[in-house]
Amino acid sequence: MTKLDIEGLAWRIDSRWLLREVGLHVGQGEFVGLIGPNGSGKTSLLRCAYRSTEPDEGQVRLDGDDVWQRPARWCAQRIAVVLQEFPQEFGLSVRDVVSMGRTPHKGLFDGDTPHDARLIARALDQVGLASCAEHAFATLSGGEKQRVLLARALVQEPQLLILDEPTNHLDPRYQLELLQHLRGLGLSILASFHDLNLAAAFCDRLYVVDGGRIVASGTPDQVLTSAVLEQVFGVQALVDRHPLHPYPRITWITR
Ligand SMILES: Nc1ncnc2c1ncn2[C@@H]1O[C@H](COP(=O)(O)OP(=O)(O)O)[C@@H](O)[C@H]1O
Ligand SMILES: [Mg+2]
Repeated sequence: MTKLDIEGLAWRIDSRWLLREVGLHVGQGEFVGLIGPNGSGKTSLLRCAYRSTEPDEGQVRLDGDDVWQRPARWCAQRIAVVLQEFPQEFGLSVRDVVSMGRTPHKGLFDGDTPHDARLIARALDQVGLASCAEHAFATLSGGEKQRVLLARALVQEPQLLILDEPTNHLDPRYQLELLQHLRGLGLSILASFHDLNLAAAFCDRLYVVDGGRIVASGTPDQVLTSAVLEQVFGVQALVDRHPLHPYPRITWITR
């Protein structure tokens, strides 16, 4: 069954089309990656997918429901998002920031229930920050903040998780831990990637965005060819088999 269906999506600012004829699907439990050069439209497409930007044409459906026919809260109960920017959460503790993920499931003045507290503790443990719950969010490193925001997304108990370049602030160990962890969740995931080797290692399928259009899609083996990479990124790449794993390995060829 398909979790997320995007069809015929187009979005423009004034007369400039930033996304055109975009079709994208995420199956139940599938980990789908979005790759493409800077400015190609990845973030814009993700914003449409999590009902932040309303497209000018086309549909975004979650389990068959058009997200723009539903209230924002309905989406927040089903889709969690981890963005590239960090919120300026002055004065909030790590636990406070994570607990915000429970908001879509609660009334305006509800405090944290024992169930909320358990979810928060488990999520902090999952991202390796159980000992930092009382630390001030603002004092954390970029990588730690990223993991707090993932914990916030997890306590939201989403059916679909959307991440915009989730590994950007992380060192290699946390990049791998985060992605391994994400894959182990069994959630439907749509994530943009800067690092194509990470995308190859963790994604079931990839979509390549260039100039606001999807120009290639398929398994990492189908998509990550030297022809596609040169066409889209304008750089020659050697693509071979990873020596340890069953997915392609990309080496950029420098002159
Ligand atoms: N709100 C906006 N107003 C004007 N231009 C925008 C806006 N959002 C994105 N763009 C433009 O759309 C293009 C795609 O941006 P973006 O989706 O951020 O690409 P990517 O995430 O792939 O780097 C860029 O040219 C960017 O400048
Ligand atoms: Mg972006």
